[in-house]
Amino acid sequence: MNGRGLGRSVKVFGTVQGLRAARAAWRRRRTDAWGLPARGAERARVPGAVVGAEPLPGGGVVRFARSQLRVRVAAGGSVFWGWDGAEPEPSYALAGRLPEVDPRAGLEPDKDGGWRVVSERVTVAVSRHGAVEIRTPGGVVLRRDLPPRWWEPVAGGPARWLQRSEVAADARFFGLGGRSSGPRLRDGTYRLWNTDPRGAFGPGDDPLYITMPVQLVVADAGTHLAFVDNSWEGRVTLREGEEGAGSGHDRPGTCEVRVAGGPLRGWVLVGPPARVLRGWTALTGAPALPPAWALGAQHARWGFGSEQEVRRVVAGYRERGLPLSAVHLDIDHYDGHRVFTVDRARFPDLPGLAEELRAEGVRLVSIVDPAVKAEPGGAVYDSGSAAGAFVRDARGREVRGEVWPGECVYPDFTDPEVREWWGGLYEERLAQGFSGVWHDMNEPVSFAPFGDMTLPRSARHVLEGHGGDHREAHNVYGLAMARAAYEGLRRLRPQERPFLFSRSGWAGMQRYGGTWSGDVATGWPGLRASLSLVLGLGLCGVPYSGPDVGGFDGSPSPELYLRWFQLGAYLPLFRTHAAIDAGRREPWEFGPQVLGHAKAAMLERERLRPYFVTLAQLARLTGAPYVRPLWWGAPEDRALRDCEDAFLLGDALLVAPVLARGTDRRAVRLPRGRWYDTVTGEAYEGPGQVLLDAPLSRIPVLARAGAVIPVRGEDGGTELEVWAPAAGRSGGGLVVEDSGDVSAVAELERYASRLVGGRVVVERVAEGGVVKADRPVRVRGLDTV
Ligand code: GLC
Repeated sequence: MNGRGLGRSVKVFGTVQGLRAARAAWRRRRTDAWGLPARGAERARVPGAVVGAEPLPGGGVVRFARSQLRVRVAAGGSVFWGWDGAEPEPSYALAGRLPEVDPRAGLEPDKDGGWRVVSERVTVAVSRHGAVEIRTPGGVVLRRDLPPRWWEPVAGGPARWLQRSEVAADARFFGLGGRSSGPRLRDGTYRLWNTDPRGAFGPGDDPLYITMPVQLVVADAGTHLAFVDNSWEGRVTLREGEEGAGSGHDRPGTCEVRVAGGPLRGWVLVGPPARVLRGWTALTGAPALPPAWALGAQHARWGFGSEQEVRRVVAGYRERGLPLSAVHLDIDHYDGHRVFTVDRARFPDLPGLAEELRAEGVRLVSIVDPAVKAEPGGAVYDSGSAAGAFVRDARGREVRGEVWPGECVYPDFTDPEVREWWGGLYEERLAQGFSGVWHDMNEPVSFAPFGDMTLPRSARHVLEGHGGDHREAHNVYGLAMARAAYEGLRRLRPQERPFLFSRSGWAGMQRYGGTWSGDVATGWPGLRASLSLVLGLGLCGVPYSGPDVGGFDGSPSPELYLRWFQLGAYLPLFRTHAAIDAGRREPWEFGPQVLGHAKAAMLERERLRPYFVTLAQLARLTGAPYVRPLWWGAPEDRALRDCEDAFLLGDALLVAPVLARGTDRRAVRLPRGRWYDTVTGEAYEGPGQVLLDAPLSRIPVLARAGAVIPVRGEDGGTELEVWAPAAGRSGGGLVVEDSGDVSAVAELERYASRLVGGRVVVERVAEGGVVKADRPVRVRGLDTV
């Protein structure tokens, strides 16, 4: 839902729902007034002076007068730190297996009474008052966490805390989940509280649906990822530094994390971006592999009125030769918006529709909202109630909220038994013929004309058995719901890979699927925000995402629609979607010129499908997102760090979308090396900036010299498109096919390219040497060599 969401709901359902939402909001207030006593007086605490240390494998414990710090360095260089006895587990973020400690790393005395742990990739130095420095092996400081500060309620209860950190003066911040104003995060305060922004959002609206205490910091001295493993409500204040600020001295960049409770613990990973993301993925889990069809074009709409309308839209694609992989059904196919039901008047035979569409290669995907209509007699409500599955308040009563179906209750996904129950409900979706699910409203949302549109903070949650309230559970609600569905689908259809994407989530959500932009505002700023979200989420380990192409609300101009479409064609999730009262989003609704260019973008996407399949597999194997910032391979290039209007798609392509009205040429910043315009074949040398044509018919896409890109040939097989290496240089690329088999181990085909006597030679690098490439090869860019 969005801003107009509530307005819209009032319009659509009459004022009754508006009144009920107001009542729910008052109820939430009352519940918290009772269940969440005022904090009262607090006592501040800092660690104090060091009093001793105890070595343990990979590090040890440093004791201070009023706290203690555990440091644990893993073999790959990832560092765990935890104050006050905090251990790495349990954690919603972690995949379950902690990286092995570095057996050679141990605590040793440092100068000035501090302690340090030296390992191959990183040194951790703890000062005698509890500042923690992360240094490169060469001794350069990447991050300095100052001694933390806690405020403990005198009457007992969770302590809130603050940690200030410093980074290099030249450092840039990225990440923190899905932020609309990035990808480079400007000075300001970013909340950690997953939120439906109430309005179709644009750049600057913050927070949004996915917030994560994960920051990627890129500086000349190196890149690092800092994760605070704590799901409580919080805020992060960032301030970039300044070189040569006061009297020639650098002012460091600063970061302040304030959290309302819970453990003070986290991880730091250092190294080049690819290694950092590999480490992050090892820690929090490999991204779920989308089924191959989920890499094709998809069409969604809130307000498909009937089966006939779905057929009509699919026929529209077919008749115009527009490839389509999936159609998504929104809440309107449910009976009175009740989850896991069907409106049989308008969708009398969903399994039949699904089968019919499947025969022409189109899958059906279903929206699934977590809130269950609170009505005795409803099958889901009854079975959930009987199982005690719904979130309760501090007095033990089911918490009621207001969502599309009316008054609702909320499954407590932080309870393993509830997850199992909920996962089983997807059997109904599978029986209706759906091939995938789209999780929505799982921040979770309860409509409210004022205050937070979510559950009371005092609502109780099982939290895997340790028990707690919504302040701790809120940010992991969507993540835990995704886990429930993913595990349920795996149980129900062990031979298929689940397709799931979720509006809300937290660190580690990639284990279960991807996400999408949510209700991005139709307008050029919304287009820019779409790219910011995809890039930022990728750097937080969530590689599969994409926007509502065309924007969620209103009606885009034909030009804006086309530019959005052209960008979307190069993003992992390529899906048009819009609100019930928004204009149409089918490519033929904007005139023949737009249709022609949109079709070209779709056909190019289809041609690149083997490359997308490869990127999906590589994301799973290495954590590298498909969509990467330009600085990915060259974080030391400051101009690239500040470039926010283009991206790398894998290693081979550089995509420069048009993000402003009336553009027919645009400046494109290039990383080092030779780059070919993939349409004109023209070669450009980076690093630097070039001005490229961007006619309405296409956005500039460049290929890296030497790249070997798997593309779909005319016969449907995979062939290799090879861009001539520059003289004296070589290149290469990977191909991974998708056998569709759930248990198959991905087989990497590695290719190398080089220039010999003016000719491009492509070889497969196999065990024991190189062999001739056994796929058709198409060489491009040679006449410019
Ligand atoms: C939310 C979703 C949107 C969906 C709507 C109705 O606003 O973000 O995608 O169409 O709810 O289900």
